[in-house]
Amino acid sequence: MLYVKNLRKSYQSGNKSYAVLKGVDLSVATQEFVAVMGPSGSGKSTLLNCISCYIPFEEGAISLGGQNLQGLDEDALAKIRNEKLGFVFQDFMLLDGLTVRENVLVPRIIRDKVEPEAEQLADSLLALFGISHIADKYPAEISGGERQRTAVARSLINKPLIILADEPTGNLDSKSSRTVIEAFENARQQLGATIFMVTHDSFAASFCDRVILLKDGTVYNTLRKSEDQKESQGAFQDRLLTAIKEMSKA
Ligand SMILES: Nc1ncnc2c1ncn2[C@@H]1O[C@H](COP(=O)(O)OP(=O)(O)OP(=O)(O)O)[C@@H](O)[C@H]1O
Ligand SMILES: [Mg+2]
Repeated sequence: MLYVKNLRKSYQSGNKSYAVLKGVDLSVATQEFVAVMGPSGSGKSTLLNCISCYIPFEEGAISLGGQNLQGLDEDALAKIRNEKLGFVFQDFMLLDGLTVRENVLVPRIIRDKVEPEAEQLADSLLALFGISHIADKYPAEISGGERQRTAVARSLINKPLIILADEPTGNLDSKSSRTVIEAFENARQQLGATIFMVTHDSFAASFCDRVILLKDGTVYNTLRKSEDQKESQGAFQDRLLTAIKEMSKA
């Protein structure tokens, strides 16, 4: 569903060029929940920003739902961002002047007028993520975990092909983090959502089907939760921590 092939991206500083992504290859299947982990500066956010069509890249290809993202004009990219992608950010990015329910509907308002079907979907997302009771509250009146679950609901309102999340639990304590990861899990199971998440949090990553380790701008290793042996989430987290330790020594 998402294919990234030989992706190369560098930043210019003065007349010098710094390579950040040095040929990244990966893919994400429909309904997969995939995490990307790696040291600070390894290029995780840059990778997400390329997939999000926020920054151009020099070489390689990205295709989403069968459509190539290179060579599209700004209008086409904006349409893809609004209609095909859902975003969840570390700092929530909710609009303070809107209620929880209104925030969830924002991407739909941008797209066209809000039909009753969208209102129903918003209400069912609030129910799915356990935040119906705060639908009329404002972001300043709710907890961090509730804010992020609101953001997850917002990311789903246009039924995107994939949700891109950059450190979605980075500002949350472990209990709130868990509610957000459970929201992703529910979105996947109940709505067939596909999720691609950058995280530093091995606990959050241990809920994923697959974890891609990025180091110095390339894929260093990929770990898949074993299905046949029904590997527990705790055992997968241990395996992840070992692989990360090994990567930091290499
Ligand atoms: N706009 C920019 N201009 C120049 N250099 C940049 C820019 N954005 C990122 N970089 C550099 O590119 C490298 C990768 O940055 P990136 O933000 O992708 O890392 P990351 O893996 O997301 O790190 P973190 O875990 O700290 O969020 C870093 O060395 C960073 O300083
Ligand atoms: Mg980052």
